Amino acid sequence: MTFPEDFAWGAATSAYQIEGAVDAEGRGPSVWDVFCRRPGAVWGGHAGDTACDHYRRYAADVALMRQIGLRAYRLSIAWPRVLPNGVGEVNLRGLDFYDRLIDALLDAGIVPYVTLFHWDLPQALEERGGWLDRASADWFAEYTTVVARRLADRVTHWFTINEPQVFLSHGYQTGVHAPGKKLPRKHVLQMGHHVLLAHGKSVQALRAASEGPCEIGFAPVGTVFVPATNGPADVQAARQMMFSVHDDSLFNNTWWMDPPLLGRYPIDGIRRFGADSPDVQPGDLETIHQPLDFFGHNTYSAQVVRMGAQGPECVPSLPGGAMSTFRWTLVPEALYWGPRLFYERYGLPIHVAENGMSNTDWVALDGKVHDPQRIDYMARYLRKLGEALRDGVDVRGYFYWSILDNFEWAEGYRERFGLVHVDFATQTRTLKDSAFWYRHVIAGGGDALFDPRPAPAALAV
Ligand code: FCB
Repeated sequence: MTFPEDFAWGAATSAYQIEGAVDAEGRGPSVWDVFCRRPGAVWGGHAGDTACDHYRRYAADVALMRQIGLRAYRLSIAWPRVLPNGVGEVNLRGLDFYDRLIDALLDAGIVPYVTLFHWDLPQALEERGGWLDRASADWFAEYTTVVARRLADRVTHWFTINEPQVFLSHGYQTGVHAPGKKLPRKHVLQMGHHVLLAHGKSVQALRAASEGPCEIGFAPVGTVFVPATNGPADVQAARQMMFSVHDDSLFNNTWWMDPPLLGRYPIDGIRRFGADSPDVQPGDLETIHQPLDFFGHNTYSAQVVRMGAQGPECVPSLPGGAMSTFRWTLVPEALYWGPRLFYERYGLPIHVAENGMSNTDWVALDGKVHDPQRIDYMARYLRKLGEALRDGVDVRGYFYWSILDNFEWAEGYRERFGLVHVDFATQTRTLKDSAFWYRHVIAGGGDALFDPRPAPAALAV
């Protein structure tokens, strides 16, 4: 067996992308509700108002997860559903929803992994200054405590924050995501510091509210660098690129990962960002650097590198190389080198907190959804993850993004990532071939990935 018995074979979603019911039962608006109303902000003028209507259909969705045999499910809580104004008054009906969802998952034998922040900041807090206000760290801690007091008797696996790089860059630098602002980098890095503080305070709040042991991590994204060969020089090139701040953007690994995991900002980042570096108060890094139980990583983009005469060099992808409809290239080795190099640097068990591909899936004349490319994608990536396990990397889980086709942020409903097809006009769910294939993989503890005999697609039907 390559994959351990208790491996968390999972799938992931986030609240705004699936729940819909944005006005239901006391939920307050989030920055995404407001952003979607802005003309031209989201492809096709789409919004998350209904999304997958998961708020009402959660029981049927959990039944689908059970049918697929998921062992774990990563969901996020909508902050404005729990605290409509971000702080203060608690909306009990919002909490009741998560209560029911968690119970349904546990009844189905599925372990919930709960993300506290997946980008749907309460609009009320944005209007008070949002992440630019240092108090945002305390707002997030207050929200964490409210959620944990209600759920921590049953939820034992937590992610604090999803992809700081993406919501800060897209939301506050380029403005292509909510709230659609274009602020100077100095401000955005200051916000980033508050986000990291919020993470630290949230970890403290989770530990304080949990009676028993719990496992806490976070889910940054960031490019994985894959060495062109297994030779030591190329591996060193990959390591150097993975763990350096080598351009002016916020899309690097170490600026976001070193403070929580090593207790310091990377020196090369401080040099590069110069006067734009955030103001850090005494004690902040201690607060940010809380002990964590695992390292979560959303693995999507990867770049092949080799060591050249002047240092690491990127190897351009071949013309016509495989890619998804998002135009993200296929680099399965990312699930070998990402976990391996993150494990080497941070020494924590690894969860692949997201990985997946979008395509143009539709229901065929035979009533089924044939997605052989997704099966092939998953097989290739999971085999590489298996190789990392065989080479001693402590990988605990894999969360396919996503269980359902859903609202893909600025792309609206154009990009379909799901194992389950959603007809957004009727809310009909159809398991794609990949869902049946994943069921087979999970049932066999991953062994089917390495079985050269049956073609995965044939198993699906
Ligand atoms: C990640 C996000 C997730 C989803 C996938 C495709 O960056 O965390 O919500 O949009 O990309």
